[in-house]
Amino acid sequence: MSGVNIDWNRVAQEFGTPLYLYDFDHFREQFLKLKNAFKARKSIIAYAVKANSNLSVVKHFAQLGSGADCVSILEIKRALLAGVDKYKIIFSGVGKRDDEIEEALRLDILMINVESEGELQRVEEIAKKRGRPARISVRVNPNIDPKTHPYISTGLSKNKFGVDIETAKKLYLYAHKSPHLEPVGIHFHIGSQLTQLEPIREASQIVADLVRSLKSVNIDIRFFDVGGGLGIVYKDETPIDPYDYGQAILSTLSGLDLTIICEPGRFLVGNGGYFLTRVLYEKRNGEKRFVIVDGAMNDLIRPSLYQAYHKVELIGGEDGEPEPADIVGPVCESGDFLRKDVPLPPTKPGDLIVVHSAGAYGFTMASNYNSRPRVPEIALENGKIRLIRRRERFEDLIAPEIDYLI
Ligand code: LLP
Repeated sequence: MSGVNIDWNRVAQEFGTPLYLYDFDHFREQFLKLKNAFKARKSIIAYAVKANSNLSVVKHFAQLGSGADCVSILEIKRALLAGVDKYKIIFSGVGKRDDEIEEALRLDILMINVESEGELQRVEEIAKKRGRPARISVRVNPNIDPKTHPYISTGLSKNKFGVDIETAKKLYLYAHKSPHLEPVGIHFHIGSQLTQLEPIREASQIVADLVRSLKSVNIDIRFFDVGGGLGIVYKDETPIDPYDYGQAILSTLSGLDLTIICEPGRFLVGNGGYFLTRVLYEKRNGEKRFVIVDGAMNDLIRPSLYQAYHKVELIGGEDGEPEPADIVGPVCESGDFLRKDVPLPPTKPGDLIVVHSAGAYGFTMASNYNSRPRVPEIALENGKIRLIRRRERFEDLIAPEIDYLI
């Protein structure tokens, strides 16, 4: 059932469990599909580093020509270290600090994506002090319902992201007049795990019309950043075809000479990632059956946080009728589960469970809760596996504290 042909028992033996494994060949295929979808125009696929920021993953995309969509200065530093071209890096996020803005300007990235009037003024002041204009884009909130999970929907007025069309116009006019600001791009991102094309097309149309009205007053927008958000299959979703996605966006841009920027995260890395965990025990509390594994919510929080569905695959198992079980971890929280009520045959200690579609927002959202070290990450490429992040040790966890222990 795995999308990859791999001996999970061997992987578990070699690296221990739990762990993440990434299929780099799948990552490449996804990247090329999307790049191809925009081939009629100049385009930059700017990988959303937050989805999976392992240096080797970012490097893999950099080598394919990818840019990077970053939401903190340290994500920018990761992208640069991994070899992403600085002119393909965008800095987004609603709450950038002065020091982050300053550093981003010093690093000379493509543009800072401004999300409020206050932020535009901070960028202007910092650019003025440096004596060099700052390239900016404005994140427009087109007030479109993306029809996805409320926690990952971002393009409605009630969401904290971006500014409305009228404010955006005002900010562009202001930036156009300022000698310290250079408005080069425009940005929108309406949500994540999108499976419907129409809201994307609508948003693109609204923002493209804004670009037209800005051009009419000589504000020359060159980069049209459509954000990320393309959904993937976790269960039985019908995802948007990348070609249709490209066509929908291109159809709104007639007469405009723009470089398209697209910021996919999940689409590139989601389905190519696997979380591998091992069965420790089985138990019953009354009627309820639990399969207790060594992976937990601190390693993969999506099921607990979003009630997200991840397909699971048992490697091993005993003869016997499948019966519903909750797959739970060792963390001291009732919300610590990977799946609920999943039919499984009897299991025994040492059996493996592969959790699918865990490549995006898996490791990057992991924590050290319960002093659990973050797990290793493994790359699979051309049939070969290699370690790309070792398991954390006790020393890694205590390093920032130990010098202060008096
Ligand atoms: N660009 C911007 C401005 C974003 O805010 C995001 C994601 C992306 C691009 C990439 O979106 P993607 O292509 O991956 O959908 N932790 C949640 C997802 C949060 C997404 C936040 N923004 C999850 O596990 O589902």
